[in-house]
Amino acid sequence: MGRSLKYDIPGDDWRLSALDFFEAASPEALDFSGPVAEAKKGGARSIESLFAQTLEPPFEVVLEIGFGRGEFLLDLAARFPGTAFLGVEVSFKRVLKLARKLARAGLTNVRLLEARAENVVRDLLPAESLDEVWINFSDPWPKARHEGRRLIQPAFVSELTQCMKWGGQLHVATDDVPYAEQIAIALKEETELTSGHPSHSWLPEVPGRMHTGYEEEWRAAGRPLHFFEYRRRSEVIHRISP
Ligand SMILES: C[S@@+](CC[C@H](N)C(=O)[O-])C[C@H]1O[C@@H](n2cnc3c(N)ncnc32)[C@H](O)[C@@H]1O
Repeated sequence: MGRSLKYDIPGDDWRLSALDFFEAASPEALDFSGPVAEAKKGGARSIESLFAQTLEPPFEVVLEIGFGRGEFLLDLAARFPGTAFLGVEVSFKRVLKLARKLARAGLTNVRLLEARAENVVRDLLPAESLDEVWINFSDPWPKARHEGRRLIQPAFVSELTQCMKWGGQLHVATDDVPYAEQIAIALKEETELTSGHPSHSWLPEVPGRMHTGYEEEWRAAGRPLHFFEYRRRSEVIHRISP
């Protein structure tokens, strides 16, 4: 019999809900009957305000998508206590477990949101709000007929880029070769992103980079790793209309 899930949080609970991303005073922000994009425009709060209780501005804002068991996010948050970390994860259980670990560790610079990253990026995050984004080993959906379920697709990359600050960094990793090829194309084709390794599609290793939980398993199994290091350009690119 599996161990039963513990629901209590032994300390501060840093989980957020989608409503926390909107100004409570703004009626249109709470009206989800209309297009969400309108609500976002009407009442989006700054990401910094979600950390105002525990961090003194100015501070950088880092997003990790699909944190899994959360080892990487916990390590980063402990190493950089003056930086704000937002973790987005679709699994309720994983969010709950990391909320418990954060409380036990007494870390106050992390906020967690249980949601699909695609929705968070499209509907909740304000433009130019992120200094850094990590997407580590997002599900590869290896069957050809499931390719469309992969997180990193051109439309998602474009929306995510708009949420990054100019000059902000994007780190992506995968162990899956076909997914790596798809990611390479999606990132290269986003005109507002620039690669830190322009003569290579990806890097097989990034010296000094911390390992994630799944990564430890893939390394032990001898799987090939693919790392992508991109940055949003530091100046506005004027798209040429056809
Ligand atoms: C293969 S695991 C990797 C976990 C962790 N990043 C690591 O490297 O150890 C992928 C994680 O992404 C989460 N995930 C999958 N699709 C997601 C989505 N659309 N939005 C947010 N999280 C997602 C899964 O629940 C899972 O925890």
